[in-house]
This record gives sequence, structure tokens and C-alpha cells, in this order.
Amino acid sequence: MELIEAIQKRRSVRAFTDTPVPKNIIMEILSIACRAPSAMNTQPWEFVAVTGEKLNQMRAAIMEKLKSGAPIVPDHLVVSWPNEGVYKDRQINLAKQLFKAMDIPREDKEKRAWWLERGFRFFDAPAAIIIATDKILGEAGPLLDLGAVMQNICLAAMQFGLGTCIEDQGVLYPEIFREQAGIPATKRLMIAIALGYPDQDFPAKQIRSEREPAENMTTWLE
Ligand SMILES: Cc1cc2nc3c(=O)[nH]c(=O)nc-3n(C[C@H](O)[C@H](O)[C@H](O)COP(=O)(O)O)c2cc1C
Repeated sequence: MELIEAIQKRRSVRAFTDTPVPKNIIMEILSIACRAPSAMNTQPWEFVAVTGEKLNQMRAAIMEKLKSGAPIVPDHLVVSWPNEGVYKDRQINLAKQLFKAMDIPREDKEKRAWWLERGFRFFDAPAAIIIATDKILGEAGPLLDLGAVMQNICLAAMQFGLGTCIEDQGVLYPEIFREQAGIPATKRLMIAIALGYPDQDFPAKQIRSEREPAENMTTWLE
């Protein structure tokens, strides 16, 4: 797939087939992604690849926490929830697109909760990649580097016919990974990426999120 075509076609995939993703493919994607640039070549990324029964166990533990009403305790707030202005508008537009495609009315609390839970369950993907970093690097320092490797993973996955959804929802209860996967407290879990073969029939698969034209985001100095 051509690079520009891949960048333009990438979209968040929020439903997958049950087909497992072979370990060697996940490893190849991660190897390619590691060519991302990083400040002073520090390569601050670490990956936790979770599949199979272990992923099912994680999902179950996360759902138990969520349903118990336990407060989320993320290692880092990678997403700043927009409360106003154009950022809020864009967030609402996305939600409208998704809920329309999924036929989830605003007042249907049950379906909305179902939708939220799917995110916490890694959208039932057969694989999930958690991107972590060492706490020694501070909170904000590695953020840009991790963003580069994150996008590389999503683009490289497309070459193998795989879909991805970057999701902070997957790491909002990092203690579960510490307890069940032995991730030490010295590591900060930053973001999750659900990975699998896209379910082409899932209604939300058809939406293409909107973008502000680049001209509106650009200041020219000539
Ligand atoms: C840092 C980050 C966190 C995200 N977290 C979530 C999430 O928790 N749940 C979700 O459904 N999508 C999540 N997304 C996906 C965004 O909603 C999506 O990238 C955006 O709406 C643009 O749509 P597109 O990826 O289809 O182009 C996240 C994306 C990023 C970059």
C-alpha cells in the first residue's frame, strides 16, 4: 500500500473478526513501528502485546472494575477532555457520527453503556498492544515520541490487512496489568491499541471522521 494512501485510509476500527493475529505479524508490525523518530534517539517506547486467553482475562478484570463503579486511575491523562469551543464541537461531531451509524439514540442509556464497555473490552479485538514508558523519563517528555510510534503501528498494521483503534480506554485501570501481567510500577501505561482483522459489516466501520481543512490550521509566514 502506498504511504499516502495508507495515511488517508487509516481510520479507527471498533469491531473485529475472531481470527487471531499471528504473533510473528504483531512482532513485524512492532519492529517496523520502532523506526519512529524519538528525541535524541531515546526510543522511550515499550510494548505489551496481549492476545488469546490472557487478553480475555484482562477484559474480564477490566469489566469487573468498570461495573463495580471503581474510579479510573490512569498512569497519565493522555486525553484532555475538551469542555468548550471548537474542540468540544469536534468531539460531539464524532459522537454523533458514531451513534448515528450504530443507531444509538441519545436517551438510550443502556446502549450507550454497551458502547462504552466495548471500548474498555478493546472492542473484542483478538489482540491489544499497550504502549508503556519508563517513569524515569517524566510525564510529558516521551509523549511526542510515543505518538510517532503509535501512528507507525496503525499504518504498518494496514499492510497486513489489520485494523486498529488507538484507545486510552484500554489503560484506564493500569493496576490490572500490574497485577495480572507483572508490569512493574516503574512503567507508565500510556495508551492501548486494539488490533485485529476488521469486521467489515460493523456499522461504525463505514464512518469517516471529519477533518478541519489544513488551511484553517496553518499560519503562513512569508
Ligand atoms: C490519544 C488517543 C486516544 C483515543 N482514545 C480512544 C478511546 O478511548 N476510544 C475510542 O473509541 N477511540 C479513541 N481514540 C480514537 C479517536 O477517537 C479517533 O482517532 C478520532 O476520532 C479520529 O478518527 P479516526 O481515527 O477514525 O480517523 C483515541 C485516539 C487517540 C489519538
